[in-house]
Amino acid sequence: MAHRRFEVKEHAASYLRSRVPPPPQELITEILGFLENMKERPFDLAVDIGCGSGQGTLLLAPHFTQVIGTDISPAQLEVALANSSTPNIFYRQCPAEELPFADGGPDLVTSMTAAHWFDRPWFLQEADRLLKPRGCLALISYTLDMDLEYGQHSHTLTDICHQSTETPGK
Ligand SMILES: C[S@@+](CC[C@H](N)C(=O)[O-])C[C@H]1O[C@@H](n2cnc3c(N)ncnc32)[C@H](O)[C@@H]1O
Repeated sequence: MAHRRFEVKEHAASYLRSRVPPPPQELITEILGFLENMKERPFDLAVDIGCGSGQGTLLLAPHFTQVIGTDISPAQLEVALANSSTPNIFYRQCPAEELPFADGGPDLVTSMTAAHWFDRPWFLQEADRLLKPRGCLALISYTLDMDLEYGQHSHTLTDICHQSTETPGK
């Protein structure tokens, strides 16, 4: 299964080091603005599915009473736990397609650079079941139209990235 590459401890540790860039604060602000149009603060619960080592989960913590990061990989969650001392964040191991939460709990469900790994019809059904009325599901990912930065190789890498995404059948 695709998620298995995240099972190895060393991979989880290097993922934490090399996940650049982290989800931008502007994006979180945009999502919160959308949520505010749907319902009033305070927001009780956000669940971040496929949270990995928790960089995105952390960004949600100031805005919710509680944030729960979930991931299928114990190795990723171990790294997330080791790097978080935020008291309102909790982590749980579970597949995105079978979330161990009661109906109507979270105000916000996020999945940051992870939903492409999930069985999406199952996951979307679960997200729909979980969310409070007028809650929000935010699926966040990179656009492929981006510039890569790696010293003197930046232009070459960016060109390769653009060419590969333009190749028919890719
Ligand atoms: C690219 S990482 C993204 C991690 C984090 N959200 C971030 O933005 O840095 C994808 C994560 O999805 C998790 N994952 C993959 N398939 C999953 C599934 N079916 N259920 C839950 N998590 C899954 C992986 O273990 C991995 O931690």
